Amino acid sequence: MLIAHLSDLHVCARAPLSATNVHTEQAVESLMRLLPQPDVVVVTGDVGEGSPDDYALLARYLCPLPMPVYMVPGNHDDREAMRSALFGLRYMPASGPLNFVVETRPVRLIGLDSLIPGKVEGALDDETLDFLDNALAADTSVPTVILVHHTPFQCGIEEKDSIRLFEGAERLSGILSRHRQVERVLSGHHHRSLLGQFGNAICQIAPPVRYQEACSFEAGRPTHEAEMPGFLLHRWIDGAGLATQHCPLNIGMLTR
Ligand SMILES: [Fe+2]
Ligand SMILES: [Fe+2]
Repeated sequence: MLIAHLSDLHVCARAPLSATNVHTEQAVESLMRLLPQPDVVVVTGDVGEGSPDDYALLARYLCPLPMPVYMVPGNHDDREAMRSALFGLRYMPASGPLNFVVETRPVRLIGLDSLIPGKVEGALDDETLDFLDNALAADTSVPTVILVHHTPFQCGIEEKDSIRLFEGAERLSGILSRHRQVERVLSGHHHRSLLGQFGNAICQIAPPVRYQEACSFEAGRPTHEAEMPGFLLHRWIDGAGLATQHCPLNIGMLTR
């Protein structure tokens, strides 16, 4: 099973020629050129900028992809705009948090909604954590990947750590320690490719499709220099687990 992992597209209908939109089109073209084709595409949030028009434009960009696309919301998304625009994708619940389970094999996908309207940091409320606990308990034998925009792990970059998943993180840690079939927690939000650990879980953050921010551990130092955007490819290998490749987007010139 090959999982393409995109994040932080920030598709913006108000700025049709913005880098965010151009890079999204190029990411889709890159996925179309892959051989073999990914079995699924997952998008870990900040897919738009909150306008219904963003999600309509996103749907047009994703249209050429023959494989299913599953996405969770990020802090830049509007839950109801995303739900109504993408409800045709069926996995989106009709009400409440945008949580879902997709019974793909050999790896099962669970999407979690960590969006707090008006806030940059993330939270998992009790309804979402109950959903996760029940979904994991319903099938303990299938390797599972969790999708959630905000990561719970500390990466050591002060600016990023201040906007990670806080509320619900302690209970999440307990759930992950009881359900060892979780192979990876996939996120976005930090606009850098990062790997870390939270309790027993390996947590991975995809680079953004928008542009990657340069590395800086110093608080207050601007981190908005543009680096090459990209995406991740997670390949499931029977008997071995998930192996991940970082794929830079082959854009000719970065624009902002
Ligand atoms: Fe973002
Ligand atoms: Fe974000």
